[in-house]
Amino acid sequence: MIIIKSAREIEKMRESCRIAAEVMEALERMVAPGLETGALDRAAADLISRRGGRSAFKGYRGYPAHICVSVNEAVVHGIPGGRALAEGDIVSIDVGVERDGYYGDMARTIPVGGTNGERARLIEVTRLALEESVAMARAGGRLSDISHAIERRATAGGYAVVREYVGHGIGSRLHEDPQIPNYGPPHTGPRLKAGMTLAVEAMVNMGGAAVRLLSDGWTVVTRDRAASAHFEDTVAVTEDGPEILTCPRRKMR
Ligand code: MF3
Ligand code: CO
Repeated sequence: MIIIKSAREIEKMRESCRIAAEVMEALERMVAPGLETGALDRAAADLISRRGGRSAFKGYRGYPAHICVSVNEAVVHGIPGGRALAEGDIVSIDVGVERDGYYGDMARTIPVGGTNGERARLIEVTRLALEESVAMARAGGRLSDISHAIERRATAGGYAVVREYVGHGIGSRLHEDPQIPNYGPPHTGPRLKAGMTLAVEAMVNMGGAAVRLLSDGWTVVTRDRAASAHFEDTVAVTEDGPEILTCPRRKMR
């Protein structure tokens, strides 16, 4: 069942999403060769709590960190730690925030230093896949229009989408119905209604679609170890079209 949020609930989600976006902006600015991924986690913990939020991920099914940091062939759910970022890496940062009972969830992939041309193109195609899929989150449309838009952009770019992990509904829980795959035919599935709030996640692989789970129980990597990118936004379906709740605003400290 897809939960319809009231205006008051969406206002609360604007707040948790704004915090997530501000934290993301600060973390993006930190990314540089030599930075340990654990430093991003410590900064995120501080930035989230200073804004009155709580990490949505820490302790979720036993997840051990405040954010996910997934480098190169890591697709999602990388655990930050002692690894130092290197020139030419790409790093996916996933930030989830709960505040006052409501959640916001977003991810961005960032090049470390100057990135090589093909990795930059992977990032751009994945960013576009998210942008074009979020644009389909319109009242009266169908859920699979979102999924289809991700797959279409990724495959047009010569890349593969991840099939084992999905975007999701979000609200007073991090994960709600519906699941939002990165693939599928257009014009099927539930009809979208104003008040639905969705975390749309584009996960795009430079090589094959197949992934596997590392022995840490969390990190998802591509089977062929080719690079992967991840962009996610939390969006509200409104009568006037999609409202991206995790859009960055300048209000940093
Ligand atoms: N954005 C991801 C998701 O919605 C991050 C979850 S990490 C976890 O699944 F640790 F919370 F699982
Ligand atoms: Co998510």
